[in-house]
Amino acid sequence: MTEDEYSHIANTLAKQGYIVVEDFIDAGLTKQLYHHVTSLPASQFNTAKVGRQQTAQQLETVRNDKTVWLSNTDAVEQAYLNAMDTLRTQLNRQLFLGLRDFEAHFAHYPPGHFYQRHVDAFRGQSNRVVSSVFYLNSDWSEQDEGQLILYQPDGKTRLQRVLPCFGTLVLFLSEQFPHEVLAAKRDRYSIAGWFRTDAILL
Ligand code: OGA
Ligand code: MN
Repeated sequence: MTEDEYSHIANTLAKQGYIVVEDFIDAGLTKQLYHHVTSLPASQFNTAKVGRQQTAQQLETVRNDKTVWLSNTDAVEQAYLNAMDTLRTQLNRQLFLGLRDFEAHFAHYPPGHFYQRHVDAFRGQSNRVVSSVFYLNSDWSEQDEGQLILYQPDGKTRLQRVLPCFGTLVLFLSEQFPHEVLAAKRDRYSIAGWFRTDAILL
């Protein structure tokens, strides 16, 4: 990414609250991330959690993807975290969001798995400010489904449908945009991540 591309991302995020970026990082790194996540043992994946108050059974009806958190102990994971840290610095420089931290997990949606409409953060309850989703899937087409649907903040109108294509990054303000993941026909791999502030914003 060049300085101009980072500026474009920050400006668009400020103006409309979300942005879809194609070819976000080097394709070589995206390929490594795909090979990495697809070679992790199944035992490392956890059934994703939603809220503290939900029972395991309710949870299955909301989302049923499998997740693994990224850490700095693996070189490929670290390379992605570094790229997102550069993005964090650039967003702070232009938007004064005071983003301090980034956390992310790989998500695997086997065929038929989904994540119903939700928001990633509730005002006053979370310090997640900007959500990110990065897609690792080569040769994804409309027939494979598994789109991310972004809704207007009012929750009624569909704003954008995004295919989970190799190299595409989506960023949006965590508290403002409800979104959902439609069931896919193929295995669907993504990295969902959140830029955080230190303080909970009230
Ligand atoms: C999430 C999420 C979207 C996607 O994990 O919170 O909304 O397209 N993921 O994988
Ligand atoms: Mn989400």
